[in-house]
Amino acid sequence: MRICCIGAGYVGGPTMTVIARKCPDIRVDVVDVNRERIAAWNSDSLPVFEPGLDELVKEVRGKNLFFTADVEYSVEKADIVFISVNTPTKTYGYGAGSASDLSFVESCARSIARASKDGKIVVEKSTMPVRTAEVIKTILESSGYKFHVLSNPEFLAEGTAVRDLENPDRVLIGGDDATEEGRAAIETLASIYARWVPREKIIKTNLWSSELSKLTANAFLAQRISSINAISALCEATGADVDQVAAAVGSDSRIGSKFLKSSVGYGGSCFQKDLLNLIYLCEHFNLPKVADYWRAVVDMNAFQKRRFSADIVERMFKNISGKRIAIFGFAFKENTNDTRESPAIDICRDLLSECARLAFYDPKVSDGQILSDLGLSEGDGRVEFCKSPYEAAENSHAIVLLTHWDEFRKLDYEKIRKTMQTPAWIFDGRNCLDHRLLAEIGFLVRGIGKGNLA
Ligand code: NAD
Ligand code: UDX
Repeated sequence: MRICCIGAGYVGGPTMTVIARKCPDIRVDVVDVNRERIAAWNSDSLPVFEPGLDELVKEVRGKNLFFTADVEYSVEKADIVFISVNTPTKTYGYGAGSASDLSFVESCARSIARASKDGKIVVEKSTMPVRTAEVIKTILESSGYKFHVLSNPEFLAEGTAVRDLENPDRVLIGGDDATEEGRAAIETLASIYARWVPREKIIKTNLWSSELSKLTANAFLAQRISSINAISALCEATGADVDQVAAAVGSDSRIGSKFLKSSVGYGGSCFQKDLLNLIYLCEHFNLPKVADYWRAVVDMNAFQKRRFSADIVERMFKNISGKRIAIFGFAFKENTNDTRESPAIDICRDLLSECARLAFYDPKVSDGQILSDLGLSEGDGRVEFCKSPYEAAENSHAIVLLTHWDEFRKLDYEKIRKTMQTPAWIFDGRNCLDHRLLAEIGFLVRGIGKGNLA
C-alpha cells in the first residue's frame, strides 16, 4: 500500500511521520508545493518544532517516509491520498473574515483528479466546513474514476503532536456508511490506525458528523478558555484568585480540570479560524442567535488580550514611550515554533503603538518570523532580538511573559532584577511564575485574575 499526503505542514509532517513509523510496510510520500518546506523536511533543521519529532523523522526518512515536491507522481502511485493543506479564514469577497478559504483544498482535489489513473480513497485531514466532502467528490469524479472521500479530522495539539498522534483520545473516521463500498473504505483507513490505536478508540460516523465534530471540539475548548478568562476579569475586581476558582470549579468531575488555565488569551492557527467558520455556517443556515453565541467566545478572547496590554500601560504610569520592555516568549504556546494568531502579536502591536521599545526572547521562534508578524522591517530601531532572557531583561522597565516556556520558571530572577530599571515590573500573561517570591525580590507583579502584588 502507498499513501500520499498533500501538505507538509504542522499536521501533515508529524502525522505522516507517525504513520510511517507504525507501518513499516507502507510507503508514505509527503508532498507540498512549497519547495523550501520540502527541502527543510529533508534537512537537519525541520520546519516544524515538536518535542520528539526530529528523532522519529531520522528513523524513517528515506526508508518508508519521503518528502518530495513531485505532487502528481506521488498522487498517481498512491492508494490513499490525504489532504492536509491549510484552510485559513477567507480574507476577500463573500464570507470574508469568517468563511474558510477552500482554494487550497480545491486545488488539491483538482491535482488528484488530474494525476489519477484509477479510483482512490481521498481523506480530508484538514479541518473543513460541513459538506466539503461533497465538493471534493464532485471535482474528483469529473476525472471519470470512482473515489471514496473520507473525513478523518486531526485532533493533535501543537507542542504535544507526537504524543497525541501515538496515543490519541480517539480517531474519528467519517464516510459513506450507508453503502457497503463506503463502509469498506472506512475500514481500510481504520485498519491502518488499528496497528497502534485500540479499536474502541476508532469512532466511525457519517461524513457530516465527522466534519462538524472537529469544528465543535475546537469551539468547546475555546469556549472554556474564554469562560475562565471572563471570570479572571471578575477575580481582579473582587480579590478572588482565578487559579483557585479554576481548581474549585474544575474538581467537579462533570466539568473537569482541563482547559481552565486562565491566560492572556488563546492563540494558534485553529481556534479562531474554526470558531469563525462555525459562526459563518450558523449564519449561512439562518441561525443568527447561534452565531451570536459563538461570536461571544471570540469577542471575549479579543477583550482579554486588549485588557492585558491596557493594564501594562496603565500600571507603568500611563506612559511606556521609549521604555525598554522585555518580551518573554512569542509562540502561541510552549513547545512549538508556531506564531499563528499568537496573542503576542496583538499585545506587542499595542505596546509598539504606545511607542515602547521591545526586546524579544523566544527559544524557538526566529527573529524574521517576529518581524513579519509585527509588519516591521529588519533594522527597525524599536525592536531588538536577544540570545537569552537575561539579555532581554537588562535595562528594561518591565518583563512581559507571553508564552509558558518552562525555562522562564527556572530563571535567576534575583540576578535579573538587579540589571533592570526600577521600579521593575513583571506582567505574567500565563500565571506561570511564583508571584510571591518575585514580589519579595522586589518586582511589582501583575498576573491574570489575581489579587495582584503591585
Ligand atoms: P500548514 O500551513 O502548516 O501546512 C499546510 C501546507 O499545505 C503548506 O506547507 C502549504 O504549502 C501546503 N499546500 C497548500 N496548498 C497546496 C497544494 N495545492 N498542493 C500541495 N501543497 C499545498 O497548515 P497546518 O497547521 O498543517 O494545518 C493543515 C490543516 O489541518 C488545516 O485545515 C488545519 O485547520 C488542520 N489542523 C491543524 C492543526 C494544528 O495544530 N496546526 C491541528 C488539527 C487540524
Ligand atoms: C487546538 C486543539 O487543542 C487541538 O485538539 C486541535 O487539533 C487544534 O487546535 P493547538 O491550537 O495546537 O490545538 O493548542 P492548544 O493546546 O489547544 O492551545 C490553544 C491556545 O489556548 C494556546 O494559545 C494556549 O496557550 C491556550 N490555552 C490552552 C489557554 O489559554 N488555557 C488553557 O487552559 C489551554
